Amino acid sequence: MLREGKVVAIPTETVYGLGANGLDEKAIGRIYEAKGRPSDNPLILHVPDKESLATLVKEITPTEHRLIDAFWPGPLTITMVKSDIVPFKVTGGLERAAFRCPDHAVCRAILKAAGVPIAAPSANISGKPSPTTAEAVFHDMKGRIEAIADAGPCQIGVESTVIECGDDEVTILRPGGITAEMMSQVVSKVRYDDHLVTGAGIPKAPGMKYKHYAPEAAMTTFLGSPEQIAARLTSVIERDIQQRERIGLLISEKTLALIPAAVRAKVQHSITYDSERQAESLAVILYEGLLAFDRDKVTRIYAEGVPSSDMGMAVMNRMDKASSHQIIDLGE
Ligand code: TXA
Ligand code: MG
Repeated sequence: MLREGKVVAIPTETVYGLGANGLDEKAIGRIYEAKGRPSDNPLILHVPDKESLATLVKEITPTEHRLIDAFWPGPLTITMVKSDIVPFKVTGGLERAAFRCPDHAVCRAILKAAGVPIAAPSANISGKPSPTTAEAVFHDMKGRIEAIADAGPCQIGVESTVIECGDDEVTILRPGGITAEMMSQVVSKVRYDDHLVTGAGIPKAPGMKYKHYAPEAAMTTFLGSPEQIAARLTSVIERDIQQRERIGLLISEKTLALIPAAVRAKVQHSITYDSERQAESLAVILYEGLLAFDRDKVTRIYAEGVPSSDMGMAVMNRMDKASSHQIIDLGE
């Protein structure tokens, strides 16, 4: 189906993708249509191995070789100057195209069998949380695409890290599963795109400027100790219940246990993550949790954030957008 120019949802270790032949302009057009995505927002080309890059890029620099050897297959997307066979339609007119080799056996088997690079954005309607299960893809894409390859839930839960390489240096355009700390083992200098640090200016990854991951309900994210967050949640839940709000909680197990049982009982939907492996555990359930709140017609979401280091950087980048920047630090 992919060789015929059809759109097929494919599993990866991060989130499900909406795949089509990345060298076929018509097929690429069908992805943008199915997703409702602005066509200036470029797509990642997925390849089964490093060797597949040979005809797709002008060159692979020594720094890029080092990063590929260290982190592929895996959630690391690298932008490289494209060869002429890669259409500008994939890159939204940019000279660089983004490439990634997923760490997922089913995905790589599909990529190998297709024999062409597969362009794939996350398989959600533009602006919605990314799907981490085939059911979530079906919810957004039924009637819009030809097929879904169901390989069960995704292992990581947030999208890949997107980087651009200089000489022995890396700029992170979108934080993800391969962290700054991990890349620092391989290159001398790792920095974040200015837009990620200040929130100002034009992001180098065009997709980072759009509203993203928005659940239906208004969402507030709290930072602080479990005791501080539990105390605040107890008072806001009691207030909200008076207003007949339907409440969704996305918090750590420890914090939930600190909320009095009588208050907990008034919450429509509680989803918890592991207090020990906070960022990784939150990443796995974040999008599916937001979608579950939508299905449950929750009207207020309260979440507990994690420290913005390592994987926490990737998770908090998504939490910040899902909460429309409503992050309250109770520890300050
Ligand atoms: O984990 C992932 O990366 C998932 C799975 C399916 O592979 N894909 C994904 O694709 O998240 P998408 O399209 O939802 O996000 C791709 C991001 C966007 O922010 C886009 O602007 C950026 O990567 N990007 C793509 N090509 C680029 C390029 N040539 N230069 C700069 N940024 C680029
Ligand atoms: Mg996306």
